[in-house]
Order: sequence, then C-alpha cells, then structure tokens
Amino acid sequence: MSKTLSGKVALVTGGSRGLGVAIAIALADKGADVAISYVASEEKAASVVEQLKAKGVKAVAIKADQGDPSASEPLIRQVVEKLGKLDILVNNAAVAWQGKKIDDPEIDNAAMDRQWTINTMGVIANIRAAVKVLPDRGRIISIGSGLGTRIAFPGTADYAATKAAIVGYTKGAARDLGSRHITVNVVQAGMMDTDMAAGSKGKLPPIIMESHAIQGYVPVEEVAAAVVFLAGPDAGSITGSVIDVNGGFTA
Ligand SMILES: NC(=O)c1ccc[n+]([C@@H]2O[C@H](COP(=O)([O-])OP(=O)(O)OC[C@H]3O[C@@H](n4cnc5c(N)ncnc54)[C@H](OP(=O)(O)O)[C@@H]3O)[C@@H](O)[C@H]2O)c1
Repeated sequence: MSKTLSGKVALVTGGSRGLGVAIAIALADKGADVAISYVASEEKAASVVEQLKAKGVKAVAIKADQGDPSASEPLIRQVVEKLGKLDILVNNAAVAWQGKKIDDPEIDNAAMDRQWTINTMGVIANIRAAVKVLPDRGRIISIGSGLGTRIAFPGTADYAATKAAIVGYTKGAARDLGSRHITVNVVQAGMMDTDMAAGSKGKLPPIIMESHAIQGYVPVEEVAAAVVFLAGPDAGSITGSVIDVNGGFTA
C-alpha cells in the first residue's frame, strides 16, 4: 500500500467509535500520524490509539467536548504539542437527535440547540482554530449527511440543518483559504451501521429505504476512502465541493 500521507499529521474528531475509527485507520494505512478526539469513550479511544500505533504511526487520543466551542483551541494546540503539527483536519464528530417534528410539544428544543452547538458551532470552532496552524496545502474535510441536501422524511429539521450549514461554511472557507491552497470539502455520508444508527437495522420505514438508489447501509470504509482521497496529493484542486457517498440518496 503506497504511503501517500507519510509525514502528514491528521486530527479526526470523534475517532473513538463508528465512522471516525474507519477514517483514522484509513489515514494511518496511508502513513499519516493521527490524533483522535472523543468526549466520553476513553477506553474505546485508547483502544483505537493502540490499533493505529500497531500500523507504525504515531497516535494520540484527546478528550474535547465539541459541544463547547472554547474547547477547540486547546484541542488543536494539543495535537501540535503531541504530534508536532497539523496538516489534515477531519470534522467527523456529531450527534443525530431526530424523530420529532418541530411542532411536536414533546420535542426537546434545548437538546436541539445543543445539537446545533456540537454539529455546527463546534465544527466551525475547530476550523477557526485549525486555520491558525495549517500549512499551505493543508486539508479540511467535514462529514456531512445526505440530509444536508435532501429531506425525504419528517422529524429531522434540526439535524439536517446543522449539516446543511456546514456545506455553506465549507464553500465560504474554500474561497477564503484558496490563496493558501488549503482545500475545504464535505463528504456527505449515507446511512451507516454505527451506534448513531443503532436499532435501525431491518426497522427502517420503507420511505427511507426506497429513497436510496442503492438500498442498505453504506460501508464506513467507503466513506473513509473518500476522505483519504480528499486528504491526499491527487485532490489538491478539489475545494468547496460536496462528495456524496450515500447510495444515491441525493440522486
Ligand atoms: N451513522 C449514520 O447513519 C450517518 C449518516 C450520515 C452521516 N453521518 C455522520 O457521520 C459522522 C460519524 O457518525 P457515526 O455514525 O460514526 O456516529 P457515532 O457512531 O455515534 O460516533 C460519534 C463519534 O462522535 C463523538 N462525539 C459525539 N459527541 C461529541 C462531542 N460533544 N464532542 C466530541 N466528540 C463527540 C463520539 O465520541 P464518544 O465515543 O466519546 O461519545 C464518537 O466518537 C457524523 O458526522 C454523522 O453526522 C452518520
């Protein structure tokens, strides 16, 4: 396997579980040193670090709550202190609190507000902190959702909007950072068999399954492969783009 990311340092937020683990492993397979962040899963994060180190790269786990935008500066500072620099930021951490319509009296609007803080303001805070240390030709990749483009069912207005907001910020950031050849992109994932989708296997309503050209879960490895491509040397001219890896949900 060619080590196209050898000498690079990546941060994958939310690298303790799910897609974040697959992205961290895929980056390490290409030779990158990898920091992961987490908020609660200390043991799982430590286990991922061991998996990464076994591949011969440097790896660290850093606890940082993305629901507190003031945590972003210390997170980025620790990556630089522990791994020497930061070349690639992957904003993967998020929550998906869905299921209630906005006029449902039972909807927890305080939770919706926290979801906005984690999924949108936390990501923006990470990008603001990272641009202070990223070198020319650095990479910023954020994980979105097909729901950022298309709403095929009710009960997801807030989650979908947090992801749509990231697309707008990404396009603006791509314009702002183009002179430094820093690329900024979104990978819109589809339904994956992670904790976030826990309990949905075999239970998803037909309206959701039928809204995909290719039905079924998207393998996390395929989403991770798109991230690795955007992080790599062949993607230097792709910026302000949205890549859909979601079984044709947005087709
Ligand atoms: N799963 C899907 O079907 C699906 C579909 C489309 C898009 N996505 C997107 O794909 C990305 C990864 O999702 P996933 O399915 O892998 O989710 P997941 O299995 O629930 O894992 C979420 C990760 O984010 C971290 N995290 C959550 N809240 C955090 C916070 N406040 N601060 C820091 N880290 C936090 C978690 O850390 P802890 O372990 O410490 O809690 C964990 O590492 C997300 O951006 C999600 O929106 C997922």
